[in-house]
Amino acid sequence: MNFRKPKGTKDILPKDIHKWHYVESVIREVTALFNFSEVRTPTFEYTELFNRGVGSETDIVGKEMYTFLDKSGDSITLRPEGTAPVMRAFLENSMLSDSPLHKLYYFTNMFRYERPQAGRYREHTQFGGEILGSDSFYTDVELILLAKEVYNRCGISNFKVKINSIGKPDERSAYIAKLKDYLKDNLNDLSEDSKRRFETNALRILDSKNPGDRSITDSAPKILDHLGAESKARFDKVINELTKLSVNIEVDFRLVRGLDYYTDTTFEFVSEDLGSQDALGGGGRYDGLIAQLGGKSCPGVGFGSGIERILIVAEKNGFTFGEAAKPLVYFISLNDAARDKAFELIAQLRRKNIPCETDLLNRSFKAQMRDANKLGVKYVYILGEDEIKKGIGQLKNMSDSSQTEVEFNKLAESLA
Ligand code: HAM
Repeated sequence: MNFRKPKGTKDILPKDIHKWHYVESVIREVTALFNFSEVRTPTFEYTELFNRGVGSETDIVGKEMYTFLDKSGDSITLRPEGTAPVMRAFLENSMLSDSPLHKLYYFTNMFRYERPQAGRYREHTQFGGEILGSDSFYTDVELILLAKEVYNRCGISNFKVKINSIGKPDERSAYIAKLKDYLKDNLNDLSEDSKRRFETNALRILDSKNPGDRSITDSAPKILDHLGAESKARFDKVINELTKLSVNIEVDFRLVRGLDYYTDTTFEFVSEDLGSQDALGGGGRYDGLIAQLGGKSCPGVGFGSGIERILIVAEKNGFTFGEAAKPLVYFISLNDAARDKAFELIAQLRRKNIPCETDLLNRSFKAQMRDANKLGVKYVYILGEDEIKKGIGQLKNMSDSSQTEVEFNKLAESLA
């Protein structure tokens, strides 16, 4: 029987892993610059967390969760997104009593039963940041700058930040009533999805990709015209600050996001290099989420970004992710005694942090040289019968083919 990986998943092979390491190291570097601390939560949670946190009318909860009953009959869901689990951990561990402000990040896999296509997987890796405890507009800006810095360090600068405000819950409900009032005359012309959403989640009709829906919503009332003075002033401050900092933004009334917890600012990083799944990352504020999950009211803002999509755009831009790690020196052994000695010397060098490799297939001298060449090592160290007797090996520099005799106990020094 031939086994294949499940649909929508991927293998990351050794030839590509350095790219993932590169992006991960950029994320760790940049989050440290911005003073964010990492948080790790379980791969699965009780299903109810996502029903309540993300919203039962969302695509994620309604269609995309990997949910099953475990052996004790509890309903378990593989994490489809990072915000609800981080909020759960924040509350469960009373983090607010340690400090009034938390800047957290995560880098982990997410599971969504979606239709796979370029840049869309059923298991993807996401890094996200969340700032909890402050409703300052600077926190919205700080998160956008954090993501931007990560993208820039991965050679990505051709993106824009679509941004919108969906206001406070009461402003939003009043707006949705106006939107529905406008849409009800066109209800028959809307797509089936949007007709359904008219009843369950009318705001999402605005971000429908269906051309007919879009031409109807083009002249729908705009939420930014229906915000209260405070929300509007807050949004203007975010826009002004981002403009001052030369972030490429575009206000987009369609950006309502697909998760229910958002309030005020919503944003998405979009890149033309991604095709139809054009979101490099997205997020927004969620000032009501923590209270909704049973905590004391506490403001929050965050974003998430798919690593696969960062890699797609970086590669399209011809970005070089540095080289895969390779050994410095390859030991070539001409007989069993030499092989034994090689093992001993290699152990000493590795303790001194010198990366080494040797032949594990009992190959001929020529084949070992070929292997060393293929690995791209800087040196080979050749050990034969004479060398073992004298305690001296032949160190060959592969770039100019020069060869010198180096005593076993001077090898580390010569390689340094
Ligand atoms: P999201 O927009 O659903 O937001 O996902 C964030 C990002 O994850 C997307 O912009 C995309 O880059 C990536 N992504 C999502 N689904 C897939 C997929 N199936 N395949 C590949 N990449 C994908 C959230 O998840 C929110 N929790 C973000 C957030 C954090 N909001 C506030 N805090």
